[in-house]
Amino acid sequence: MPAKTGHSASAEWALNWKFAAYELRQLKAGLPEAAMMYPGIPAPNVTTMAAPVQSVADAVEARDIRKFAKATGELTSGCNGCHQSMERGFIVIQAPAVSPFSNQLFPLQPKP
Ligand code: HEC
Repeated sequence: MPAKTGHSASAEWALNWKFAAYELRQLKAGLPEAAMMYPGIPAPNVTTMAAPVQSVADAVEARDIRKFAKATGELTSGCNGCHQSMERGFIVIQAPAVSPFSNQLFPLQPKP
């Protein structure tokens, strides 16, 4: 799965809701893409990600940081669950502790 999907899960960045919504769209687009790119991934496994992705979407919609942290936690478990079930348990996703992008700023946005 493209590595770009990995950096969506930061509760800290959720304070930047517009960015969170943008990343979520990337992730939604990325999952089916990944299923197509890696023929080994059974489509139903990707479909099971729909619920956690929707929870994250709801949290972003509601601008609810607690819900967001919980939902991204569940989403991350979904990522790792599938990796384990497909003998890729060594690919472990976690919420990033620091931004991997030293050339980008993610300033806090005022609530619209
Ligand atoms: C439906 C099962 C499944 C789900 C759900 C899944 N993955 Fe994967 N992922 C895989 C498989 C299988 C591979 C290994 C592909 C290969 O070996 O060809 C992989 C590989 C990866 C890789 C390493 C390969 C690369 O191109 O960098 C990353 C990073 C990754 N997944 C991130 C994620 C994230 C983040 C999520 C959750 C949002 C996620 N995955 C959800 C099955 C899944």
